[in-house]
Amino acid sequence: MDEIKRIEELRRLLERYSREYYINDNPTVSDAEYDALLEELKALEARHPESYDPNSPTQRIIGKVLDGFEKVVHDQRMLSLDDVFSKEELKEFCERIWKEFGRASFVCECKFDGLAMALIYENGSFVRAVTRGDGSVGEDVTENVRTISSIPMHIDEAGHVEVRGEVIMPKASFEKLNALQEEMHLPLFANPRNAAAGTIRNLDTSIARKRRLDMFLYYFQNGEEHGVKSQAEALEQLKAMGFSVFPNWKLCTSFEEIWDFIESISKIRSSLPFEIDGIVVKLNDFAMQHEIGVTAKYPRYSIAYKFPAEEVETTLMGIELTVGRTGKITPNAILAPVRVAGTLVSAATLHNRDRIDAYDLRIGDQVIIRKAGDIIPEVVRALPEKRNGTQVPYEWPKTCPVCGSDLVRLEGEADYFCPNPNCPARIVRSLIHFCSREAMDIDGFGDKRVVWLHDNGFLSTIEAIYHLHERRQELLAHKGWSEKGTDKLFAAIEASKSSRLTVCFCPGH
Ligand code: IVH
Repeated sequence: MDEIKRIEELRRLLERYSREYYINDNPTVSDAEYDALLEELKALEARHPESYDPNSPTQRIIGKVLDGFEKVVHDQRMLSLDDVFSKEELKEFCERIWKEFGRASFVCECKFDGLAMALIYENGSFVRAVTRGDGSVGEDVTENVRTISSIPMHIDEAGHVEVRGEVIMPKASFEKLNALQEEMHLPLFANPRNAAAGTIRNLDTSIARKRRLDMFLYYFQNGEEHGVKSQAEALEQLKAMGFSVFPNWKLCTSFEEIWDFIESISKIRSSLPFEIDGIVVKLNDFAMQHEIGVTAKYPRYSIAYKFPAEEVETTLMGIELTVGRTGKITPNAILAPVRVAGTLVSAATLHNRDRIDAYDLRIGDQVIIRKAGDIIPEVVRALPEKRNGTQVPYEWPKTCPVCGSDLVRLEGEADYFCPNPNCPARIVRSLIHFCSREAMDIDGFGDKRVVWLHDNGFLSTIEAIYHLHERRQELLAHKGWSEKGTDKLFAAIEASKSSRLTVCFCPGH
């Protein structure tokens, strides 16, 4: 067979196999067969550079380093959604619409916790992916989006097509990523949403490929030009075009049905392989949507019902104190590890001594924890009714757990302090702060690395950071310090010097 023909055939086959695998969950060939065909295609494309196609399956796996992301003006603004937090508020929203139209149905969907993205196709070929940005102007992240295997590079729909959805990082990929970050002494991502956003905005496309993102589609921007008349039809059509549409959505005609849907999703929420933070309720009929229109920020025809912060019960195994940069003592609950809002939690802040006293906390108590702002875990309350007599009261220490100095508490203040400016804990915290994004922003100088350098005698003062390069050989003798990584760190230290000096000494800039 003609090699060009074979290239075309391989591209079609590989796309089909990839759709069967990622969208239909029904692979018809083995991974080995797929890989062999991909290798064959790569070899043929190398022999025929004139056959280059950015949408070839081979292009999804080729790493590229980009110069930056171009700004793109959205054809239609990408709106955000108004939130409600209670059943009553949601009911009011639906009733306002029923008052306007009499009978109207609503589509209920999961609210995926990722970042909104627009995908543009021309005559069936993928041409561009744009982030939401500020709603009017987003960034062209086409090359990173191309690495997401579940997004089709070709669809069976002529003309201009713009679809929108959410790029997410599945919980499993997120955990793998953070484990790797930890191993490499790099900062951890707070949640899958931040990790997905950071990945999409990375200039090295091989990073996006490795981190395994996914995308759920929920909006057919110019659907009406393609004969779509409602949200339910849009979801059906998106699915038929080969996009990932999360199957748990429902067309509802009464509030009872809407609420039942919300309750049923709440029950399975923690077992879903990705994060959702609520349910989106959308007026189904597009003609009705046009009639009620949008406000400056939000559509009047859709609303997001946000789930309450997830609260989880676990056991308080102990209390540990940390000493901050200023000497402030913070008690932390050491917990039997539990999963809360997508991540494994084994410690939570207790804020200060008063909190421990107010909850009458005993070691061994059952406690309820949640994530404040869905990021920092905190203890919300204790469950004294679950005590069995084995719990022991916690004794607040009189001295600093690190340097042994007597703790002080100022009149009328909740916090205790270690007054010793040379307390090693205070020095480590100062070093961490100094290197952090909020201060000198030294790339690659994460908390763990600073602690390691301090504990191993490389950093006992801030000044020592700028003499670290003098101890290069000593550093290289330690496990985990490669020549490349070490020199990169030295370069970052050097760079931070000049960039911050401008800021420090020229307050007008
Ligand atoms: S519809 C016209 N549907 O939530 C508004 N948004 O808080 C179009 N989101 O910016 C959005 N899941 O990033 C819609 N099923 C879903 C969604 C969803 C997640 C995100 C989206 C939006 C944000 C608003």
